[in-house]
Amino acid sequence: MYRTNFPKGFPEGFLWGGATAANQIEGAWNVDGKGLSTAEVVQKAANRREMTLGGVTQASIQTAVADPSDKLYPKRRGIDFYHHYKEDIALFAEMGFKVYRFSIAWSRIFPDGDEAEPNEAGLAFYDKVLDELERYGIQPLITLSHYEMPLALTEKYNGWAGREVIADFNRFTEVLFKRYKGRVRYWLTFNEINSGTWGFHETGAVDQGLPEDEQLQIRYQALHHQFVASAIATKQLHEIDPKAKIGSMLARMQTYAKTPDPLDVRAAQLQDEKNLFFTDVQARGVYPEYMNRYFAEHNIKIEMEDNDQQILAQNPVDFLSFSYYMTTVTSHGNQGDSLGNLATGGRNPYLKASDWGWQIDPVGLRISLNEMWDRYRKPLFVVENGLGAVDQLEADGHVHDNYRIDYLRAHIQQMKEAVKDGVDLMGYTMWGPIDLISFSTSEMSKRYGFIYVDQDDEGKGSLKRYKKDSFFWYKKVIASNGDDLD
Ligand code: BG6
Repeated sequence: MYRTNFPKGFPEGFLWGGATAANQIEGAWNVDGKGLSTAEVVQKAANRREMTLGGVTQASIQTAVADPSDKLYPKRRGIDFYHHYKEDIALFAEMGFKVYRFSIAWSRIFPDGDEAEPNEAGLAFYDKVLDELERYGIQPLITLSHYEMPLALTEKYNGWAGREVIADFNRFTEVLFKRYKGRVRYWLTFNEINSGTWGFHETGAVDQGLPEDEQLQIRYQALHHQFVASAIATKQLHEIDPKAKIGSMLARMQTYAKTPDPLDVRAAQLQDEKNLFFTDVQARGVYPEYMNRYFAEHNIKIEMEDNDQQILAQNPVDFLSFSYYMTTVTSHGNQGDSLGNLATGGRNPYLKASDWGWQIDPVGLRISLNEMWDRYRKPLFVVENGLGAVDQLEADGHVHDNYRIDYLRAHIQQMKEAVKDGVDLMGYTMWGPIDLISFSTSEMSKRYGFIYVDQDDEGKGSLKRYKKDSFFWYKKVIASNGDDLD
């Protein structure tokens, strides 16, 4: 559209807030009928540059199942949001949140994943969370699957590798859509769906130790089942609650060519396509051609049922959400230094990195927003962005986290530039507004929050909440709709 006036800042009604996930905050892993989830059998990483994600085997699951404590499994304890939700939501409200993104633990609602009837006590907890949000006028944005599923489905079907799980998941989504009709306007299906290519934490499928091609076969097949389940959920929601909107969720891994060598540029293009493949399917409703060659070259054969392609084509998502933490560089040869933790690409000499090796690149957020808007022409939502850092709680109860403010300010500035560029952006939920258990390492000491939680990596501490300096800063940002970033 040609126009001479362009937006000066964030639109009215822009959804400012924060994002969390059930398995990283709730705790209360074995109460009120909850079943064991896949996140609750994952141990803490040996060190900061590693992830425990790939390490789950049938044997390690058996050991975890036999262990009734939360000592080795930090996601069983979270930050006990289950018993602190009122206090935590009041703090979010004090910052002026317009939206709170959280996930519903499937294993609270269907403990084994495949019961005929839901667990009423599990639903009652989320009823209370919604009551509390409504009291402050905060919109819920609910993720239906955030890195966990009932462990029983891993034992029965090898998680999403089994097609049977589609029906179980869509029974869960139907229950939620019916119960929360009119109360929840925004839903997301699978958190960072692309990270299913890394395995168990997203797919619930154990494939540790298999040759790479076999792993890829399992993972892309599991992902196909998720695409179908996501499209069915989209259809269900549109029928049950036509006013509600549903989005996909991608871990956007923007990559740049390491040099202007066309071979590097092409390698980066392919790498980027493998990332955008997921939004291509979920927004456009078709598998893109470029993946056919990749599948063929890796012996991947996606088994589809007759009407799968039709389901995908008829039920694209309403909006696209994504997480944004870092960028990498790609070259056609050896990538060079590996950054560690989740940062699997190459090092960029122009960027600094966090203590976990995540390269900090605010301009990359503007680039991603512009590219995605151009490619899809669907509203975008930044549903995760933040800095994991070691914070110091001072004796007087303060936490001076100016490094976090700097990080967030720079990203919000670039987001604002993208809005001025014409990108249709719905909102921004930073990760995670309250300190929580890290997804990739299960550390507590990797902190993201505006709110400090007194708990250490061993689970010791009072769980008392403290407001960091960034708490007051974000409050100002929201009150000024992103104008006052000082
Ligand atoms: C995203 C996930 O990958 O990044 C979150 O959706 C996660 O669950 C966040 O917590 C930050 O990752 P980490 O490993 O620092 O907790």
